[in-house]
Amino acid sequence: MITCSAPGKVYLFGEHAVVYGQSAICCAIDLRTRVQATKHDSIVIESVLGTTALDFEIHPYVSSVIEKMKGHANIEGVRIQIRSELPVGSGLGSSAAVTVATLQALNQLYACNLQLEDIANIGHTIEREIQGNASPTDTYVSTMGGVVLIPERRKLKDLDCQLVIGNTRKSSSTKDLVSNVAQLRQEFPDIIDPILDNIGKMAHLAEEPVNRYDYETTGKLMNVNHGLLDAIGVGGAELSALVYAARNAGAISAKITGAGGGGCIVALANETSASAVASAIKNIGAEAILTRNTHEGVRLEP
Ligand code: MEV
Repeated sequence: MITCSAPGKVYLFGEHAVVYGQSAICCAIDLRTRVQATKHDSIVIESVLGTTALDFEIHPYVSSVIEKMKGHANIEGVRIQIRSELPVGSGLGSSAAVTVATLQALNQLYACNLQLEDIANIGHTIEREIQGNASPTDTYVSTMGGVVLIPERRKLKDLDCQLVIGNTRKSSSTKDLVSNVAQLRQEFPDIIDPILDNIGKMAHLAEEPVNRYDYETTGKLMNVNHGLLDAIGVGGAELSALVYAARNAGAISAKITGAGGGGCIVALANETSASAVASAIKNIGAEAILTRNTHEGVRLEP
């Protein structure tokens, strides 16, 4: 029996724009998905979504991982048990985390000798097959941990501040949101392309302040990024209410994180303001999660 875990993520900059090759800064968070893999006489996948065999409707990511890993190992039967601290479909990278943790669990269980780069790459292929136009960001960050500038794959300094996540509890489909942005871009390329371009520029501009732990400057740029995500249609009244509640309660910055639609916002906060920011988020009916950046990507659990 093997247990592996992989972290979720938040974007400081660049969701959606990264799908078009622009830069993004994405950060692994201390909320994990744990996958236990045991050799068995048939394929069984167990999660809060139910118990299934290979099932591309209920467990599309884990089913795809098992199919892909059959190319590396003789998998006749395996029991996969999933437990996650990440809300599903909320923009915190739950699908990347379960994909990466399952890949590593099977890699270890069948001694396939896949390296971390291989896991990130296979994970990206799986996300792309299931979601359509997926960037490698979520699977790369879940595999490697830390704070990463994408597509350069450059590790930045780990964040030394609190992250407060506000969850609308409304799940959204990354595939649909990515496709809505694609349609808007097709309709108004001269308007949307410069917005995506500017989001990428902000990720580059923020590299230096992130590396010198300057969250005031980083935060100003994150707030601008939030406005631009709203402009490309992935915001909404609830997300904006959370963003402004967090900022008014003393957050350094707050923006949508992930695909948007429903899902989550992320606020940067210092040690003294974090609990006030979390309370402000709860006061308007959302879930608040206090977390931090984690340096550790996918790992073998004892
Ligand atoms: C989803 O977490 C982030 C998006 O940019 C999609 C992707 O990068 O694949 C919206």
